[in-house]
Amino acid sequence: MLSTESLLDVAALRADTPGVGDVVHFNNAGCGLLATPVLAAMVDHLRLEANIGGYEASAARAEQVREFYIETAALINCAPENIAFAGSATHAFSTALSAIPFEAGDVILTTRNDFISNQIAFLSLSKRFGVHVVHAPDLPEGGVDVAAMAELMRRHRPRLVAATHIPTNSGLVQPVAEIGRHCRELDLLYLVDACQSVGQYPIDVAEIGCDLLTATCRKFLRGPRGSGFLYVSDRVLRAGYEPLFIDMYGARWVEPGRYQPVETAARFEDWEFPYAIVLGCAAAARYAREVGLDAIARRTPALAAGLRDRLAGLPGIRVLDHGRQLGALVTFAIDGWQPEPFKAALDARHINSALSFRHFAQFDFGDKDIDWCLRLSPHYYNTEHEVDQVVAAVADLSVTA
Ligand SMILES: Cc1ncc(COP(=O)(O)O)c(C=O)c1O
Repeated sequence: MLSTESLLDVAALRADTPGVGDVVHFNNAGCGLLATPVLAAMVDHLRLEANIGGYEASAARAEQVREFYIETAALINCAPENIAFAGSATHAFSTALSAIPFEAGDVILTTRNDFISNQIAFLSLSKRFGVHVVHAPDLPEGGVDVAAMAELMRRHRPRLVAATHIPTNSGLVQPVAEIGRHCRELDLLYLVDACQSVGQYPIDVAEIGCDLLTATCRKFLRGPRGSGFLYVSDRVLRAGYEPLFIDMYGARWVEPGRYQPVETAARFEDWEFPYAIVLGCAAAARYAREVGLDAIARRTPALAAGLRDRLAGLPGIRVLDHGRQLGALVTFAIDGWQPEPFKAALDARHINSALSFRHFAQFDFGDKDIDWCLRLSPHYYNTEHEVDQVVAAVADLSVTA
């Protein structure tokens, strides 16, 4: 395996990560391990709330709260005014969808690998408003066929184009910037789910050409659970898009019969915030930028690629990741095991992993003809030695299957 350990001071980064002493954490696509400064930011704020009162604590930390917007904006190359905090990526996504005035007959153009909850939301819009959901075909080698998708854009003039950068169910990295070029050329509204890519790759919303982008903070960004954000472009803000259930933070009630949405992406936020979590997210975004997204993007997928190659060489294992570009999610099927006992066998070896099921990815798992798979997702703070441990554990289990 090509070592990328020299790109980063992995020992120092692990010293900053309390969890690495207890587990081999290969479930960063579920939730990354918190770094010490992230944990400290949250615990400090909870203490302050306990000591002086919740409203008083948020007022006292207003400047640090503002840093959430500054740090997150710097992470994806936009202005702080384009960022809205959300309680999850799904909440960010559904708030964004609620701002689009769908009508019967409108088309949502998406991919076969978009995230399960996004697909369900599209179907729900279809059920309620009579929207048509069109899925662009995949290339034989995996990943969306951008040329065919562009053709569908021209044919249907979709009300919305939506793509998930890295789906939850495989290591595929979709060419979101290529899709974005067509959206910009045809002036189509474009929503990107970057839940698994933020914190794993440098993300540039200008380069992607998206109007809206959603993410969580808890995965490769290593922020706390219960957090996410929505990027809203100036184009979308200027065009007057606003969430269906806009609240007293997103709008001013200017006269009894009228409200006025605020100018910024705060239009998509609620008045109530989990301040300790927001401060944890600010610390996580800062931490990721200090570690360096370029170095992370070189090390993390490379660590996963080494793991993937070695698993592929084991008997009874079928690696399932296909596509021109693969990220840090490694998925495989194993002969002779049921899902829960297999994961439990890894748990017993202190290896954190995740299961994916057919109902998470109807198209992808249908194509692969599998009902479930195991997902391993290392991050930059994992080591080559941990990869060895995981490969040895899977090899041992594949023999005993
Ligand atoms: C690609 C992708 N999008 C969206 C989500 C949903 O994120 P959240 O659980 O924060 O709503 C996930 C979670 O696994 C995901 O992998």
